[in-house]
Amino acid sequence: MKFFLDTANLEEIRKAASIGILDGITTNPTLAAKEKRPFRELMLDICEAVKPGVVNLEVVATETEGMLAQGRELASWHPNVVVKTPMTPDGIRAVTILSNEGIRTNVTLVFSASQALLVAKAGAYFVSPFLGRLDDISEDGLALVSDILQIYRAYDYKTQVLAASLRHPMHVVEAAKMGAHIGTMPYKVFEQLFHHPLTDKGLDAFLKDWEKAKDSLGQVFPEQAKAKSAR
Ligand code: E4P
Repeated sequence: MKFFLDTANLEEIRKAASIGILDGITTNPTLAAKEKRPFRELMLDICEAVKPGVVNLEVVATETEGMLAQGRELASWHPNVVVKTPMTPDGIRAVTILSNEGIRTNVTLVFSASQALLVAKAGAYFVSPFLGRLDDISEDGLALVSDILQIYRAYDYKTQVLAASLRHPMHVVEAAKMGAHIGTMPYKVFEQLFHHPLTDKGLDAFLKDWEKAKDSLGQVFPEQAKAKSAR
């Protein structure tokens, strides 16, 4: 499963990227607006911070012509940009045209399997079902991901399923069990994936036991000991 961070916050992106397992970024107009920085400059910084990972940038036009102009502009900024369009007839029309031009697209705000079928037929690179927002209204977000994967596998559609609006680690785990290609999550959820109280407890015990027995273990890391005494 590829991991994307769902944020436009450069600090969070750099922290996650430094770990070495980040595959890309999703942004949307709400996330970008929070940062209060010139959009193009910020997005180029993000592209550099996660390269060779992809960065998903969303158009804000609602008619096909406007989406095409904005999509081409966004895609010209950096080779790793994927253009996001909303799940509307105009958006799908824009995706068919942009895909034919070789521009990668991501259809966002997908809430049903029928919408996802249209997305694949248009040749989008990613489809973004929003799990959390479905759960919010008492619908089953994970069941939607499962339906989309079933349909795409039946027809061998190449569109990758990007599980979006993930709210907690179990959303990530369940989407991964189903075989969703990508999970995009807020930084907080990315961090939560690392933690388990037994890991902390176990590490604490290992280090205490080592410290207690240190004198009888001999010199194990001489370079580190040398550097420490030189300080
Ligand atoms: C994905 O591309 C969207 O930006 C995102 O996952 C929306 O998530 P939210 O429901 O937490 O806003």
